[in-house]
Amino acid sequence: MRLPGAGVPAMGRCRGVGALARPREAQAILSAAAARCRELPDAMPHWLLKSAIHRVASWLPRPEQWNEWLQTHVTRTMEMNPARLRSKLTECAIFLDSYRHRQPQTEDFAALELGTGWHPIFPLGLYLCGAGSVHTIDIVDLLTPARLQRVIELILQAAADGTLADFLPRHRADRLARLAELLPQARTEPPGALLARLGITVVVADAQRIELPDASIDLVVSCVVLEHIPRGVLRRIVGEFARVSRPSAVMIHRIDLADQFSFFDSGITRFNFLRFTDRQWRWFNSPLIPLNRLRCSDYCDDFEAGGYRVSLLHPTLGDPADLGSVPLATEFKGYSLADLLITDMFIVCERLGATDGAAAGLQRPR
Ligand SMILES: C[S@@+](CC[C@H](N)C(=O)[O-])C[C@H]1O[C@@H](n2cnc3c(N)ncnc32)[C@H](O)[C@@H]1O
Repeated sequence: MRLPGAGVPAMGRCRGVGALARPREAQAILSAAAARCRELPDAMPHWLLKSAIHRVASWLPRPEQWNEWLQTHVTRTMEMNPARLRSKLTECAIFLDSYRHRQPQTEDFAALELGTGWHPIFPLGLYLCGAGSVHTIDIVDLLTPARLQRVIELILQAAADGTLADFLPRHRADRLARLAELLPQARTEPPGALLARLGITVVVADAQRIELPDASIDLVVSCVVLEHIPRGVLRRIVGEFARVSRPSAVMIHRIDLADQFSFFDSGITRFNFLRFTDRQWRWFNSPLIPLNRLRCSDYCDDFEAGGYRVSLLHPTLGDPADLGSVPLATEFKGYSLADLLITDMFIVCERLGATDGAAAGLQRPR
């Protein structure tokens, strides 16, 4: 997956890599580099090798396919299994609970998801729990019949063993039955066409321009998407969210604020990337899955400037000792400790209506 506007202008595309464009050679080089990464614990920090592998992959044609290949064969994070399904259903349940808490009366709500990704679990979860329509948008088309089939199978399996009800207690039996009916076609039918039969519209487009009418959406969600989007693009997307949202709409995002190389390399902390200036980070940032390094207060500022009130913040905090061990780059010295410590969060926002004016929002880190 290569994200828009997130490449590194100075180094983004290299002309001298024609030889690497041959898939077999490229695959061999990436495999060897990845193996080296696992074998040489002390030679070079793992995360730097991963960063370098991502840069090479970004120079190849169709970098999103190489990213998929790396995630399938090297990091093995692509496979969907019952545990991963449960983790996504938990996030979906948090989206739905936060929404229902604010809009208990709404039936057949219209939902918009940013960042469909590889497995359309959120659109299906929202559908099962009563959404009248779901619009899911991603700048890259990552859905495949096999992956959709796998997700449907796992959902039906969770329904059969009773776990679906633990996560999505309000799922509707008629909708589950409809999903079961469609399973045989999932293997062959294009995912977008199959999901359309459930009222889920899959759109492949940049969310800076959303093809939806003004004030048509009740719930906006995204999961681990916004941290990958450069700030200027993010502000335009928030503007689009505000335009398509009804006055009573709720917006909920899960944002991972940690250095994601730290999930791969236990030698660095969740805060490692805060040691680099913006200029240095351009060299280390993954061009395939870049991080904008925005902090909680930056998102709050942008949501508020875009016409939302932040009404609930559910942060996960990192270890203060880990943060203390990182010499902060100038860019991060002005943030409060409370702000910098947040490594993950669910943030719930409500659209400011015409009469709300500058209504006070939640106390949040500055
Ligand atoms: C890390 S993935 C998350 C996928 C999914 N939400 C999940 O939880 O697995 C982020 C997704 O956001 C998409 N994305 C990034 N920028 C976008 C943009 N400007 N418009 C639409 N989609 C975008 C990427 O293509 C990618 O599929």
